[in-house]
Amino acid sequence: MRAVVQHRYGSPDEIGLGELPRPEPAEGEVLVKVRAASLNGSDRENLAGSPFYARLGGLRAPRRPVPGSDVAGVVEAVGSAVTEYAPGDEVFGELLGYRGGLAEYVATPPALLARKPARLSFVDAAAIPQAGCIALKATAGVKDGEKVLVNGAGGAGGAMVIGLAKHFGAEVTAVDRADKADYLRRVGADDAIAFEDEDWADRRGAWDRVVDLVGHRSPFRVQRALRPGGRYLMVGGHARILLAVLVAGPAAGIGSRKRVRVLAVPQSRAELEAVTALVLDGAVAPVIDRVYPLAEAPAAFRRLAAGDNQGKVVVEVA
Ligand SMILES: NC(=O)c1ccc[n+]([C@@H]2O[C@H](COP(=O)([O-])OP(=O)(O)OC[C@H]3O[C@@H](n4cnc5c(N)ncnc54)[C@H](OP(=O)(O)O)[C@@H]3O)[C@@H](O)[C@H]2O)c1
Repeated sequence: MRAVVQHRYGSPDEIGLGELPRPEPAEGEVLVKVRAASLNGSDRENLAGSPFYARLGGLRAPRRPVPGSDVAGVVEAVGSAVTEYAPGDEVFGELLGYRGGLAEYVATPPALLARKPARLSFVDAAAIPQAGCIALKATAGVKDGEKVLVNGAGGAGGAMVIGLAKHFGAEVTAVDRADKADYLRRVGADDAIAFEDEDWADRRGAWDRVVDLVGHRSPFRVQRALRPGGRYLMVGGHARILLAVLVAGPAAGIGSRKRVRVLAVPQSRAELEAVTALVLDGAVAPVIDRVYPLAEAPAAFRRLAAGDNQGKVVVEVA
C-alpha cells in the first residue's frame, strides 16, 4: 500500500512517500481503508520530536513510521473479536498514539472510532476528531456573555474552539500572528490580538476563560489575567510550562477563586459523537484550509510546519 513515511524526527524533509505491506488487523482491531486524514499541531510536534511528549512514541525515532492520527474511511476487515463494526461501515476517529493514518490502510482498535454520519463528507469528518474534542472540552460550561480568549487560535484546532465558544454565547478574542487576524474574525472571533503587537496577559482581570493552545507563560502570570472565578486551560505548548502548570497551577489559584490547569483531552467516542452532533446541528463547523492528494503529503507537512495553514490541512488518501 502507499503510505507517508517518517523515519526520523526533524523538518518536513523527513517526510516521504513509500510502499509498505498492508497491515493485517489483529484479533481486536479494525482495518480501515482511509479516505481522508487531517493534520494537527500534534503532527507538527511528532514530526519535529518536540516538545518532549512528542517522543513518547519513540525516543530517538518514531516507532510507528507512518504519521497521521485524525482519519475517516471505510471498514475493510475486522479481527475475530470485533463485533461492533463490519466491512463497509463508514467510520472516523483520532488514532493519536497509534498514528498510521496517512496511508491507504490503517489497523486500529475499534474504541478509537465512531460511525461517520452519512451527511458528513470524509474530508469534513477527518477534520473533526482532535480539534472537535479539544473544543468541546475547552468550552464546557461557558456561559452567555463570558469573555473567552483563545491563544494560538489560527492553527488546526483554534477555529472550532472559537466556533463553540460563540455558540455558547461568549465574547471571543483570538490571538495569533498578525497576518491571521482577518481569518480569525472570519471564523467568528469578535476581536483578534496579534501576538507580535500585544501580550494578552498584560490585560489584568480581563478574561473569564483562557484556552491556551500554545502555552508559554507562568501559571502566576496567566492567573493575573483572569477575572475572579475565571479559568485558564492549557491545552498545548512548551513542555516546561506544561509541568509548571501541572505542579503550580493549583497554588496559583489559591485565594482568588481562579483555576489554572492543564486540560487533558483523552480520546473518547462519546465526546466525538457529541461534538459531531453539534456540527450536524450547524452550531460549529470544521474549517478546512487546504486539501492535498496523498502524493502531495510532503507539501501538506511543509505548509503545517511553516504555520501557513488557517484551519485544517487535510490529505485525501483515496
Ligand atoms: N491537552 C490534550 O489532551 C491535547 C490533545 C491533543 C492535542 N493537544 C495539543 O494541542 C496543541 C495545539 O493545537 P493546534 O493543533 O491548534 O496547533 P497548531 O496547528 O500548531 O496551531 C497553533 C497556532 O498558534 C500560533 N502561535 C505560535 N506561537 C504563538 C504565540 N506565541 N502566541 C499565539 N499564537 C502562537 C501558531 O502560529 P505559527 O504556526 O506561525 O507558529 C499556530 O497558528 C498541540 O500542542 C497539541 O499537542 C493537546
